[in-house]
Amino acid sequence: MAVKYTAEQRAAIEKQNADILVSAAAGSGKTAVLTERILSRLAAGTANIDDFLCLTFTEAAAAEMREKIYNSIAEYTESNPDDTFMHEQLKRLRKSNISTIDSFIGSVVKQNCHLIDADPNYRIITEGEVLRLQFDTLDELFKAKYAEKNKAFFFADRTVLSAHRRQAA
Ligand SMILES: Nc1ncnc2c1ncn2[C@@H]1O[C@H](COP(=O)(O)OP(=O)(O)OP(=O)(O)O)[C@@H](O)[C@H]1O
Ligand SMILES: [Mg+2]
Repeated sequence: MAVKYTAEQRAAIEKQNADILVSAAAGSGKTAVLTERILSRLAAGTANIDDFLCLTFTEAAAAEMREKIYNSIAEYTESNPDDTFMHEQLKRLRKSNISTIDSFIGSVVKQNCHLIDADPNYRIITEGEVLRLQFDTLDELFKAKYAEKNKAFFFADRTVLSAHRRQAA
């Protein structure tokens, strides 16, 4: 059943050629408004779904937004079965940029690895790996400094190292 949007929601859906910031309470219809805003642009034929960049904070929110956009385009095509442009949008949804901020930034870095001389097969390390890396680096540094009998390190507080060891365990 079609939602009857409030006047404020309508304004956020229809406003064009301006930056818009929508701040509203949880569950008040932000995603619904954004979905409707995208649908109205698609229905007008002025943009393809993969022209949009939709970023969220969590994977769950990205999946929810993708699903809502899919459902809204699918519902539209059911009422307008001859609209080939909108059928095309359903196919394009697969390659659209609806994701978390980190996943989008990651894809930009991967596509431009050659510009920053980075390995395109890089991955983000896990929290456990971060701790291990910190511990190993500190361990190596202390060992090297003890070996060269560096006084500053010889008397360094060992609790730093043992705290790290506890965290990494
Ligand atoms: N004007 C309206 N009339 C009736 N239902 C509405 C209206 N606006 C939104 N809704 C419904 O309210 C529910 C919550 O909307 P939505 O998920 O878009 O909110 P949200 O602000 O994005 O929530 P969250 O803060 O959890 O992300 C949805 O089922 C949506 O269809
Ligand atoms: Mg939402």
